[in-house]
Amino acid sequence: MKSITHNTQYSISDYIIPLNIDTTAIKNIFNNHYDKKKQVFLNSEPMTDSALSLIPKELHEYLVTDRVWIGYFHDQRRSKQFIPIHRDNHSDDIKFPCSINIPVFGCNEKITTSFWEPIDEVIGEKMKKSEAYSSGELAHAYEFALTDIPVLFNNQKWHSVFNPLSQSHQRAIMIFKFNNKKTDWEFFKELTQHLV
Ligand SMILES: [Fe+2]
Repeated sequence: MKSITHNTQYSISDYIIPLNIDTTAIKNIFNNHYDKKKQVFLNSEPMTDSALSLIPKELHEYLVTDRVWIGYFHDQRRSKQFIPIHRDNHSDDIKFPCSINIPVFGCNEKITTSFWEPIDEVIGEKMKKSEAYSSGELAHAYEFALTDIPVLFNNQKWHSVFNPLSQSHQRAIMIFKFNNKKTDWEFFKELTQHLV
């Protein structure tokens, strides 16, 4: 993980927390299940036992265990160059309050995620699976690149993604989402404290 910019008025631990999880098997797990599916890009996939085994057992109770999400930029299907500012939930319907995001390959420091904090009232538009930023002033609080180690990710904060690389650059991450039994970020910080 590499910090790019940080506005010190805000605390990085409100956005991401690096986790000490052994993910050496992740490339194989990813390749077995996803490489052949390039043509039909899928945002999420049924969970497999091998994928689930990457996440320590004591977290499973709070995890979505039937699906795993994939962020995959590749030479046949590229996501947008900019993923605009959004939250992964609408505040009145929090399905996935938090996730563990794990780099798989091609994750270098040029592809960055930014977190944004409202200065004043911020208006969002409820989308099918997220809330899109519409208006209101935001401060650029923190920007980082998911390069090597997993992070606990606060999906309830406004965030955006920037990828300046060409379509030939392949990059994949796996995203394990927590369920909504708990929605408080502090709860997930404590839940994963022994992995920090
Ligand atoms: Fe997101």
